[in-house]
Amino acid sequence: MPPIRSQAVERIRRDHDTMIDLVRRIKATCTQSDKVDNCNDCELRQRPICHGNIEELVRAFVEVTLKHNLLESVFMESVVPHAHRIAHNQAHMEIAQQLKAIRLVFAEDGNCVLAIEGVDHVLETLRTHANDYDLPLERYLLAPA
Ligand SMILES: [Fe+2]
Ligand SMILES: [Fe+2]
Repeated sequence: MPPIRSQAVERIRRDHDTMIDLVRRIKATCTQSDKVDNCNDCELRQRPICHGNIEELVRAFVEVTLKHNLLESVFMESVVPHAHRIAHNQAHMEIAQQLKAIRLVFAEDGNCVLAIEGVDHVLETLRTHANDYDLPLERYLLAPA
């Protein structure tokens, strides 16, 4: 196995850890999401503490995830069968749509509770995605050339 391929697998795994950690930090920053449906229902003095941090972390999660998926697409080149590449890239586009919906939350009223629900949903999608697409990609990368 060429070292560059094992480095690609390491990078994929590292990115996945970063993404999961960002979700953990996002959720830990909001202490009221099980009590209120909208940031506006939180106490006024509470909002400035968490709102900016959550928005920043959510933006980072969206950026990291989009960049990661792009990188996987590059790693796929000349390594995976055509059918895998088409299906995997299609699945990435569906994730991008979910991320776009989260971005819209901040473009609208900036309700972090809604954004966190979206992030949670993306995390579920990413878990299934890792099993269905990323693990097979890793196997292609780790297979003897
Ligand atoms: Fe992927
Ligand atoms: Fe991935």
